Amino acid sequence: MDRIRIVGGRPLSGTIPISGAKNATLPLMIASLLTEETLVLDNVPRLADVGLLQRILGNHGVDVMVSGKRSGETADHGQTLHISAAHIVDTTAPYDLVSKMRASFWVIAPLIARMGEARVSMPGGCAIGTRPVDLLIMAIERLGAKIDIEGGYVIAQAPKGLRGGEIVFPKVTVGGTHTAIMAASLANGTTVIENAAREPEIVDVADCLNKMGARISGAGTSRVIIEGVAKLGGARHSVLPDRIETGTYAMAVAMAGGDVLLQNARPELLQAALDVLQGAGATMVSNNQGIRIARNGSALAPVEVTTAPFPAFPTDLQAQLMALMTRARGTSHIVETIFENRFMHVQELARLGARIQLDGEKATIEGVERLKGAPVMATDLRASVSLVIAALAAEGETIVNRVYHLDRGFERLEDKLSRCGAAIERLAG
Ligand code: UD1
Repeated sequence: MDRIRIVGGRPLSGTIPISGAKNATLPLMIASLLTEETLVLDNVPRLADVGLLQRILGNHGVDVMVSGKRSGETADHGQTLHISAAHIVDTTAPYDLVSKMRASFWVIAPLIARMGEARVSMPGGCAIGTRPVDLLIMAIERLGAKIDIEGGYVIAQAPKGLRGGEIVFPKVTVGGTHTAIMAASLANGTTVIENAAREPEIVDVADCLNKMGARISGAGTSRVIIEGVAKLGGARHSVLPDRIETGTYAMAVAMAGGDVLLQNARPELLQAALDVLQGAGATMVSNNQGIRIARNGSALAPVEVTTAPFPAFPTDLQAQLMALMTRARGTSHIVETIFENRFMHVQELARLGARIQLDGEKATIEGVERLKGAPVMATDLRASVSLVIAALAAEGETIVNRVYHLDRGFERLEDKLSRCGAAIERLAG
């Protein structure tokens, strides 16, 4: 298993190209199941999760063609995928594939909408409630699907097709909103979604679906209206920049010090996080090239942050912010309201000398004068990158084990950071 070695203490300077958003790419690829025509996606990041979803779609009979490099293109350019679901040969998404990536459960929506049936493994095979997909199931039930749960599989049936309906989410859910929009796009009649997620990736997917012929309005607000159509066609769409990758590198610069242009980044996609960073002492300027972020030796100020659905501070940047606050001058508080147990990074950060106390959903971080390198373990996608951020400011060497978690969501992380002067390398394992 690969590991990453980091020697802390070097400021970052230069340019980091921001890739296409993982959390838009996955539902966009899944949306290809809604049409027999080809969907072309540009600016697709090279990530393990994208490769895995290619395999999952392949199992349903989808052909995915990855374009070769064009002249003048470098590894910084995203890839182009041509996705064709002309013939769906299998409406089952099996356990061994779905259990590896939670978002793959979302194939249930296009499959039931286009084929009238879907059989999708519950993610992780757990009962609804402990690892919930209850709201996703509720959404397609509201559109007329009959649902059975058998042997760890959700079996959805709508032999005469779905019909429009009203879907009121009791809780904001990104996956629930994607699922509802995709299913409603091919339903007979109009669907209204209340308390929809407003994340930029929802808007990106709705834009693409509209190019495919869907009639979706209100994406990006909490009320989305979809007039179902009988068929969707092909389209070409470029994936929006990854706001979580942007925020992660912004925090890396705030941690290590220096001056970096986050190329292609769009500030409106993560304004809450940028405001927090500015409050902590980073300076930033946005222009048509991206966001330029700097910190030059000034101390980091502590912060009070609560994660919440967009446009508030994202849960996917919580671990990175916590890493940053381990070096603040004073005590910070971070409250995690989206996911329980999303504090796996705390014990690993402690190995580097961080002082963090947990009390339910609240973490209290007492800034320390210095961190010291140590071997640490990546536990999940966002937690692992928080260890990299801490290591950039730790004295001596940190080895991050189990980096496959990083490869799921960050494209060429060690390459992007080392080109800005970080001492970071991958050790093949
Ligand atoms: C998506 C993102 C993930 C991000 C999360 C929250 C993708 C591929 N993943 O995940 O990176 O951290 O949004 O911004 O886009 N819930 C239920 N029942 C359900 C579904 C969700 O109770 O049926 C709960 C979850 O347990 C959680 C909350 O709703 O507490 C939000 O989850 P949700 O927005 O659905 O997350 P994902 O779509 O899985």
